[in-house]
Amino acid sequence: MTDSDGPASEMKADLETITSLAKRRGFVFPSAEIYGGFAAAYDYGPLGVEMKRQIRERWWRSMVQERDDVVGIEAAIITNPQVWVASGHVAEFTDPLVECLECQSRLRADHVENNTCPNCGAVGKFSEPRRFNMMLSTIVGPVADESARAFMRPETAQGMFVNFDNVQTTMRKRLPFGIAQVGKSFRNEITVKQFIFRTREFEQMEMEYFCHPDSSLDVHTYWKKERLRWYYSLGVRPQHLRLRDHTAEELSHYSKATSDVEVHYPWGWSEVEGIAHRGAYDLTQHSNHSGKKLTYFDPDTNEHIVPHVVEPAAGVDRIMLMLLLEAYDEEQLEGGDSRVVLRLAPGVAPVQVAILPLSRKDTLDPTARKVWDILRPFFRTQYDDAQSIGRRYRRQDEIGTPLCVTVDFDTLTDEAVTIRERDSMQQTRVPITGLVMALQERLLALEPHVPSIDEMVL
Ligand code: GAP
Repeated sequence: MTDSDGPASEMKADLETITSLAKRRGFVFPSAEIYGGFAAAYDYGPLGVEMKRQIRERWWRSMVQERDDVVGIEAAIITNPQVWVASGHVAEFTDPLVECLECQSRLRADHVENNTCPNCGAVGKFSEPRRFNMMLSTIVGPVADESARAFMRPETAQGMFVNFDNVQTTMRKRLPFGIAQVGKSFRNEITVKQFIFRTREFEQMEMEYFCHPDSSLDVHTYWKKERLRWYYSLGVRPQHLRLRDHTAEELSHYSKATSDVEVHYPWGWSEVEGIAHRGAYDLTQHSNHSGKKLTYFDPDTNEHIVPHVVEPAAGVDRIMLMLLLEAYDEEQLEGGDSRVVLRLAPGVAPVQVAILPLSRKDTLDPTARKVWDILRPFFRTQYDDAQSIGRRYRRQDEIGTPLCVTVDFDTLTDEAVTIRERDSMQQTRVPITGLVMALQERLLALEPHVPSIDEMVL
């Protein structure tokens, strides 16, 4: 990951604003806050967890369910430590660590700016860099002995490589095909800052796409386009995304070529996803270390080959941060009033439709709850009857709810309700009988436009 300066961001929120909104509205809390928290650990609240689910669902749908060449797995987080020897992580998964000789804080050498300690301000007083392995480990079983040491996976990818043969034979897959997985990964990061951008426990969505070596460069290009399209479908504006090729020095130990999908975060361009060309590295390594043949028999050419791999690898937490930043808006209204709106795409908004009885009077509550019952099977909903209607609209705007349905006293006689749209604040009266369809149409109209793959130019 490289942080670099880019053009001024059009995003209206800084990190502090989003961190505070996330806590105030129940998206993300500091972990174990009543004990003073824990460095770089966060707990997702009711709205955050709903949004995270949607991010995963959207990824799974586009990467697995809508394709006929990709299947999913869920591998163990703690597995045979030989996996990490073979993958190169035991020897190579390191960051350069320096220690400040004044205050003894430990820092990632490439994150130190102007040769100055960010903790105590000392200039040029650092130890020589040493390699620090980023894998977290634990002891498995009752005997606390080094032979029982196992690692918390630092990436989900190896689960796909060690299951290559199992998946290929049980699913009778022919090249090219992919194996996808979503799950937690762990890294003992030296510097952790920027909220949920870099944490020690995080969630990845990775797909290993196995292909013939001759086609691997075209496959790499294809996935770069496809993955950008996916970000557009979440409502990220193209000008806030870019692809950046890794330099030779930056490449991971396994990679022949990597392009990062970068986002313009408030501190500059930073990685949200890596699209790596891993060549035949992983299958060859696992084959050598396990003694099992991990090749593919091509029935057309009658040859055994080691497939090459292209890997789009994204982080759920970074995507969530990106979407909150991207969606945040402060709008001046007529009459000097203002509002905060999260302009989230309906597909990722934690609440899609809020049901609001105009008043808390008992007369409206049963009708409003009936409307809620009709809507619940179709949408992510919230029932809100606390405080004035104006404050409730503002509250829903601030959590990104695209549509509100207001039940008022006329509803008791005309059996109609008012739909209020988040972005335009337009209000329309709609009969309850056609309400589901009317809401669905509006949500669909709010989904971002996504260019076809043929229209994508890199
Ligand atoms: N299998 C390849 C791999 O793990 P990576 O670029 O190290 O590649 C992929 O990680 C993605 O995982 C990153 O683009 C990022 O979104 C996410 N990620 C990595 N380290 C992270 C951390 N410490 N905190 C949050 N997300 C992280």
